[in-house]
Amino acid sequence: MDVNQPTGTVSQAEALAMRYGVGGEPVAGPWNDVIATLLTHRSVRGFLPDALPDGTLETLIAAAQSASTSSNLQTWSVIAVNDPEKKAALAKIANNQKHIEQCPLYLVWCADVSRNARLGEEEGVTLETMPHFETYLVAAIDAALAAQNATVAAESLGLKMVYIGALRNNPIEVGRLLRLPSGCMGVFGMCVGYPLPTVTNEVKCRLPQSAILFHDSYDAAGESEARAAYDKRIAAFSEKHDMTHDTWTKRVIGRMGKISAMSGRDKLVSILHAMGFPLH
Ligand SMILES: Cc1cc2nc3c(=O)[nH]c(=O)nc-3n(C[C@H](O)[C@H](O)[C@H](O)COP(=O)(O)O)c2cc1C
Repeated sequence: MDVNQPTGTVSQAEALAMRYGVGGEPVAGPWNDVIATLLTHRSVRGFLPDALPDGTLETLIAAAQSASTSSNLQTWSVIAVNDPEKKAALAKIANNQKHIEQCPLYLVWCADVSRNARLGEEEGVTLETMPHFETYLVAAIDAALAAQNATVAAESLGLKMVYIGALRNNPIEVGRLLRLPSGCMGVFGMCVGYPLPTVTNEVKCRLPQSAILFHDSYDAAGESEARAAYDKRIAAFSEKHDMTHDTWTKRVIGRMGKISAMSGRDKLVSILHAMGFPLH
């Protein structure tokens, strides 16, 4: 089935079979429409130019701000990019991913400790924790949790999205384009919009739960078997959708085997230093 089908029409059994592949489903537990929306998520990389209804951006951001945030520090910000020239420049940074220019809403999610730094300055207080790696990590986690809440809200409204980690190919140029202050870094982008009807949106299944869920202590004993089963499912999925990496194993090796696959992101620590994150 296609996930453009309204989530309310997907049964629990269908949703679990899509997420894990037939035969790989976990035990069926509680169920509702929110869980159906979550389980039928699929990244979409082709969007109609149609504008979003008035107030949609603000609704997505209200959902984002409703996410938990470490100690209520709220160390994230988001930039909605509308300027076509800026979108084109941001697409170029992200290896020319066409959907960045195509989508009606492009969001750049930022780990942002600059607001709290300004608070410290205005109050005449040195925030000793500011330069520490923990502070950056908190900000990046906050940004991710906020963005995922916006994702769930968007998908519940029938919108589709894709994250853009390739924004980090050049965080300094992103910072220059969006005039980000020191202590504020774009950690990923997000395209949001209505999907092109020609785009296939079949759910991409995940590893069996036995590979990622452990009870009381980590246990990788069944991992090879689980990976082999998952490789078969992903290979069938790739074949059906003309994708280049036919197994998950090959995908992981392709993405993690060579530094060149990082598109410059192996320099991230020194880039973060330059952007106002000393990472002590
Ligand atoms: C932080 C993050 C960054 C991502 N960056 C990109 C990206 O730059 N381009 C892209 O096409 N997909 C990107 N994705 C989407 C993943 O490729 C996708 O989530 C994954 O393949 C699983 O597919 P699904 O979301 O359709 O289930 C990103 C996902 C995450 C969470």
